[in-house]
Amino acid sequence: MSICYRSAAASDAARLLEYTKIIGGETDNLTFGADGLPYTEEQEAAVLERFAASPNSRLFLALDGDKIVGNACVSGSGNPRFCHRAELAVSVLRNYWGKGIGSGLMEQMIAFARQTGAELLSLEVRSDNERAKALYRKFGFTCFGTFPKFFRIDGQYYSADYMTLDLTV
Ligand SMILES: CC(C)(COP(=O)(O)OP(=O)(O)OC[C@H]1O[C@@H](n2cnc3c(N)ncnc32)[C@H](O)[C@@H]1OP(=O)(O)O)[C@@H](O)C(=O)NCCC(=O)NCCS
Repeated sequence: MSICYRSAAASDAARLLEYTKIIGGETDNLTFGADGLPYTEEQEAAVLERFAASPNSRLFLALDGDKIVGNACVSGSGNPRFCHRAELAVSVLRNYWGKGIGSGLMEQMIAFARQTGAELLSLEVRSDNERAKALYRKFGFTCFGTFPKFFRIDGQYYSADYMTLDLTV
């Protein structure tokens, strides 16, 4: 299996929406479920165009051949008071877990964030998502707090841990 990593383009919109439906049905650790993201293909293409043109935000794909098997997102801010920070998010299809793809996507995101001059990376992770927390700790993220009842999924509440990585130290 050879995985390649690249930035997403507007032409990936349909495949990426399909990917979000699959991954949303495979895990309850994301902000959406099996319905995926509520965008039309055109809306998603416009979002991807904005990402591709942004100086401090980027959407990355992990591909096995033509198949999207993982994605990751760096979201920087246009607000001068927040532009030293970027938020990260990552997911990988279940069949591909444990093969280093999450780590590969983290490397892509952190390298991009460094290039943009970001100083502080942050993310939110369901507190019981030990696999993701282990991935983030591996890259130096530490937890600074817990948000109780962050998610409500099928009537059940779940807290989220807030984690950061300071790129200046
Ligand atoms: C979290 C996720 C992105 C990890 O992706 P992955 O491709 O499996 O990650 P990797 O193979 O690079 O493994 C990364 C690290 O996870 C940890 N890990 C792997 N298997 C684990 C397990 N069974 N239990 C706990 N930690 C585990 C290890 O620290 C591993 O690093 P190492 O192999 O160098 O020791 C993936 O499981 C996923 O998409 N989950 C569903 C969506 C999700 O939770 N996204 C994060 C939302 S905040």
